Amino acid sequence: MADDSTPPTAQLSQTTLNDAVSSSDSLRAEFSDRVPIRSILSRPDGGAGLAGNRVRVGGWVKTGRKADKDAFAFLELNDGSCPGNLQVIVEADKADLGQLVPTGTCVAVDGVLKLPPAGTKQKVELRVEKVVHVGPVDPAKYPLPKTRLTLEFLRDFVHLRPRTNTISAVARIRNALAYATHTFFQKHGFLYVHTPIITTSDCEGAGEMFQVTTLISEAERLEKDLIKNPPPTESDLEAARLVVKEKGDFVSQLKSAKASKQEIGASVAELKKAKENLAKLEERSKLKPGIPQKDGKIDYTQDFFARQAFLTVSGQLQVESFVCSLSSVYTFGPTFRAENSHTSRHLAEFWMVEPEIAFAELEDDMKCAEAYVRFLCQWLLDNCYDDMEFMADKFDKGCINRLKLVSSTPFERITYTKAVELLEEAVKNGKVFENKVEWGIDLASEHERYLTEVMFQKPVIVYNYPKGIKAFYMRLNDDGKTVAAMDVLVPKVGELIGGSQREERYDVIQSRIQEMGLPTEPYEWYLDLRRYGTVKHSGFGLGFERMILFATGIDNIRDVIPFPRYPGRADL
Ligand code: 4AD
Ligand code: MG
Repeated sequence: MADDSTPPTAQLSQTTLNDAVSSSDSLRAEFSDRVPIRSILSRPDGGAGLAGNRVRVGGWVKTGRKADKDAFAFLELNDGSCPGNLQVIVEADKADLGQLVPTGTCVAVDGVLKLPPAGTKQKVELRVEKVVHVGPVDPAKYPLPKTRLTLEFLRDFVHLRPRTNTISAVARIRNALAYATHTFFQKHGFLYVHTPIITTSDCEGAGEMFQVTTLISEAERLEKDLIKNPPPTESDLEAARLVVKEKGDFVSQLKSAKASKQEIGASVAELKKAKENLAKLEERSKLKPGIPQKDGKIDYTQDFFARQAFLTVSGQLQVESFVCSLSSVYTFGPTFRAENSHTSRHLAEFWMVEPEIAFAELEDDMKCAEAYVRFLCQWLLDNCYDDMEFMADKFDKGCINRLKLVSSTPFERITYTKAVELLEEAVKNGKVFENKVEWGIDLASEHERYLTEVMFQKPVIVYNYPKGIKAFYMRLNDDGKTVAAMDVLVPKVGELIGGSQREERYDVIQSRIQEMGLPTEPYEWYLDLRRYGTVKHSGFGLGFERMILFATGIDNIRDVIPFPRYPGRADL
């Protein structure tokens, strides 16, 4: 904040507005007539070297205050291009200062960059020549005042929360991780495949899918329509049948009376009309309100896709059809789970990155997962340091060190059996878990976090899980008891990645599907991948929001996705 006691005119004299040079094109945003604040503040000199440049900037006021008996106002302006704010100084003759200072006001101004008085935090500030736009805010009504608001409170304003420092920093980190993801896989020769969002196969076989149907809205529409236009009664139908009979009789009469062709033609046309009308009435009389049924079950042949359809829980099965041709592929898209989890690690709609590699075994899969996660960590250190500093300051002191550690340290690898032994040993030594530890259990979040946070204090890959707790597509190991699965566990989060080598043997996968009580019909196409030109292959899925939790140290997954969906909530 500039020192109030320094009148702005004192600095103005250093570079008069007329001396100012116009901002060079290299500073200006390419598709907008303003200079992003990042291109001023993110320079190694903090923007000082740009003093004397004339620029236009636009953004939203973080804090604003009038000073020097309302002779001018200081605005901290942020345009989302970086966490930093540009200090903007407006004199009273340039605008109604009272309208500029409320938090949330949108302001675009032309001005000259200047060196601030010595001893102030800023390296550069903007002296305004002209206010070109004001999007005012009524501070009495604006829901996000300047005071620090909890992330939980902000969830009630998902449409306005991107204006906060935290949500915009998370958005930049999220964007960087998405870019890093494509960079990593493209660099390693993977092809990006768009797998469907609407699917007719349950990848995880866990029955946690949201159904996609138009039957309900169709039934509602029909119900309304039938109230407005009631279906024909039996006597309406009778009357229509009578008309058909009369018209038919008349045609016969004309024919036997050898009437003219013209007369007969006209009466046949009338008969046709009467028949059409009857057909229409008969059709309408069959309409029944409610969802169509057949043999006591919902008749999905009448649904939009003529079969049951769902939102995908994972793009894996479909991406496997492409790996069996393109060899190295990945999909990155939204996935949906209708599990009624109210935890800080689960969403009903989340994004998943799913690579799939042909001619690759579990070992290759683990190597890829580790290289990818380490690449993401290094990427944030290289490209998002300012946002990471913000996170370290506001949420998690250790987050930068964690990124450094993970990007530079090999992950621990242990079998599931070993993990259970270690946990049992911990229990013997007095550690208390809520969930019982024994071979065969699905590791609970508390177990996963104990392994990665307490025992190893770094990411741990647990592999070779009991087949009973994993999906049907995972490759059966020679012991007949375990499958070639792997989970990557990381501090703060627990499970970040789930993956496996896929079962490429036709007979084995077919009997696994049956063993797990799944219907074979929806998986016939998947079995074709094993029937024709089968190949050993492996892949994994990284929960994108969990990666952001891990990187930022934010506690709740609902705050790292722009529009969180979870039981009871789907705002906007
Ligand atoms: O372990 P999951 O269920 O694995 C799969 O879906 C595989 N088909 C992936 C593959 O092999 N291609 O999910 C993968 C990851 C989890 O490790 C977790 O990080 C995340 O997705 N995840 C969730 N994230 C947020 N909310 C949920 N409800 C999640 N469920 C899973
Ligand atoms: Mg999993």
